[in-house]
Amino acid sequence: MPIRHIEAQSLFVLNAGQTTYALKVSEQGVLLHLYWGPALGGRLDGIDHRRGQDRAFSPTLAGAPKGVSLDTLPQEYPTHGSSDFRQPALEVFQPADGSRIVSLRYAGHRIEPGKPALEGLPSTYVESGADADTLTVMLEDKHIGLRVELLYTVFAGHPVITRSARVVNAGMAPLELRRVLSASVDFDTDVADYKFVQLSGAWARERDARFSPLRPGVQAIDSRRGTSSHQQNPFIALAERGADEEHGAVHAFNLIYSGNFLAQVEHDQFACSRAQIGINPFDFSWLLAPGEAFQAPEAVLAFSADGLGGMSRALHRFYRRHLLPIAWRDRERPILVNNWEATYFTFNADKLEAIAAAGAELGVELFVLDDGWFGKRDNDLTSLGDWFVDRNKLPGGLADLAARINARGVQFGLWFEPEMISVESELYRAHPDWCIHVPGRPRTEGRQQLVLDFSRAEVRDAIHDSIARILRSAPITYVKWDMNRHFTEVGSAALPADRQQETAHRCVLGLYALMDRFTREFPHILFEGCSGGGGRFDPGILAYMPQIWTSDDSDAIQRLRIQYGTSLAYPFSTMAAHVSAVPNHQVGRVTPLRTRGDVAFTGSFGYELDLGAMTDAEKAEVKRQCAHYKEVRRLLMSGDLYRLKNPGDSREAAWMVVADDATEALVTHVTVLAEPNAPHRRLKLRGLDPARTYRVRRDDTETSVAGDVLMHAGLPVPDAPGDFHSVQWHLKAAT
Ligand code: DGJ
Repeated sequence: MPIRHIEAQSLFVLNAGQTTYALKVSEQGVLLHLYWGPALGGRLDGIDHRRGQDRAFSPTLAGAPKGVSLDTLPQEYPTHGSSDFRQPALEVFQPADGSRIVSLRYAGHRIEPGKPALEGLPSTYVESGADADTLTVMLEDKHIGLRVELLYTVFAGHPVITRSARVVNAGMAPLELRRVLSASVDFDTDVADYKFVQLSGAWARERDARFSPLRPGVQAIDSRRGTSSHQQNPFIALAERGADEEHGAVHAFNLIYSGNFLAQVEHDQFACSRAQIGINPFDFSWLLAPGEAFQAPEAVLAFSADGLGGMSRALHRFYRRHLLPIAWRDRERPILVNNWEATYFTFNADKLEAIAAAGAELGVELFVLDDGWFGKRDNDLTSLGDWFVDRNKLPGGLADLAARINARGVQFGLWFEPEMISVESELYRAHPDWCIHVPGRPRTEGRQQLVLDFSRAEVRDAIHDSIARILRSAPITYVKWDMNRHFTEVGSAALPADRQQETAHRCVLGLYALMDRFTREFPHILFEGCSGGGGRFDPGILAYMPQIWTSDDSDAIQRLRIQYGTSLAYPFSTMAAHVSAVPNHQVGRVTPLRTRGDVAFTGSFGYELDLGAMTDAEKAEVKRQCAHYKEVRRLLMSGDLYRLKNPGDSREAAWMVVADDATEALVTHVTVLAEPNAPHRRLKLRGLDPARTYRVRRDDTETSVAGDVLMHAGLPVPDAPGDFHSVQWHLKAAT
């Protein structure tokens, strides 16, 4: 049974794949955390033995025996005010008397098959009640009539537990929520024993994996930008000392949310680490009238005893099965060519058709018209919000352009930036108060644009109607949904003064409502998320859009780090990766076309250049890449990732994707900088079946090698003839 309630000990034991998570109701009714780690057997003797010494400066919980202090007890949903001095999961201001004290006590529980959806928020799903079980623990503070429902879901076969919290005002007076985190876990660690893992960066340098020693005090990452951001990702992990790609315990936390978030670990005086994740309390508050409820987003908790690689494979499998939109999660994604870096804003229908036609001859399946097709959008100064075709550039309109492109045998896709408004636009002239702003304050511009106030239904409806009209006007099968600036002067003209701090979260809820509406209304369209590249690469977006433009940096070498970091949490099938021109437009680097292709073989493949302007030799290579990608894309979409060489550590990077049944694999090696008289290099492969023999194909050569030889002796890597050289092997089981 995945969830057991052992009544005699007031114990809940959650068994999820290879992991066990245990909690307990204390004699005082406090919900305690007991254990999260490798799966435990049925006997749990001793699991709830805890130290109960009376500690100096740790106050005794009112009514409890000496030694029982919230300052020292490991808890599941801590609050501040009655002897816990650490970071709380919940803060509630009580306007009636100014109190901030919250004391939650156990009030009941239920265990049910399946998993409920979260109101207004994206969340993981199950397709049948047999796929998961959910434990709901009810806590309450009788003094103020506050109820908290903590949800824990365990999924068959996944070492993953999802958690969320719903707060209900069951009292008579309004309450002001100031912090409602989604998950909080206290576990005993020695500070020297753990590394804090985060994915941090900047525009064009997103999700660089960083590892730092855990230290006493609070280590936190967050976003205050209105989106999950390029700067931080709503993901952290605690990796035990010595953990590497394949060994060691790792506890991961990922938040299904696309706005301001907080993820932190507080290491306390008694070597307990409190890890938390949720909506950022910074600039957040929420008025909860009597009878109202607030739903916090869902957190995904994954445990791996097999290092970072095990963690990633667990998250990837879980997201592919329980998060990505059902209609698209298993579908092969088309090879696309996007005109952005080929033309930027300067194009006409003939030019676009020529790029599509060149692509069609080489094996490309979808042409994407990026920014610049609407309003008077000749540069980025104008027209966001004016979602009607620029007839100067496209006199025949989109239907005509799409027909010309379809006639070449290629599908047609289109770019939008639905959440934005240019000051220089018809929409802004008509509705200057539709953007996020604070009356009387100057409106800061980023990329000469402002953010629409998606907390307002009339704003969402207007944007919906103008975009839906376009989507119905032509055979559009793909949409790139971009978002190119962060929130400033955060305020909504539609909210009263005491609700202004709800604006950012309400905008995220509005965004989800709109994405939900579009994806339901146009189920045949493949939506790709984007925010100046990967500025919103998070599980919230992935619940609606199965792939995201990984970064505006399309340089193959820079992408090694970005894709390595992204792959810690997110599967290849979610990462859009394109071959672009050289010298690269972001870093000026010149890399071989072959390498650019091999590095972009990471799930959702495409091109971002003028295919018509290529030489015959380059076209032949593109043709080869497209044919090869079609041969391996099912594997790349669904296989297990093994990272073999971390691009951050060395002059080389390598990874492989292995089919579920180990009958096929694709191995890629990239030499970053070549060396004279280079050492012999071998790649010890992983995830193969040691008992099988594999046909190992590299370009036109093929050899047969035993699985155990590939895994233990390794695959010899040929010397690189120069910098940025790549090699790819395709393995198929022969026996
Ligand atoms: C930012 C995106 O990341 C780019 O790919 C491109 O679509 C531009 N926006 C267009 O303005």
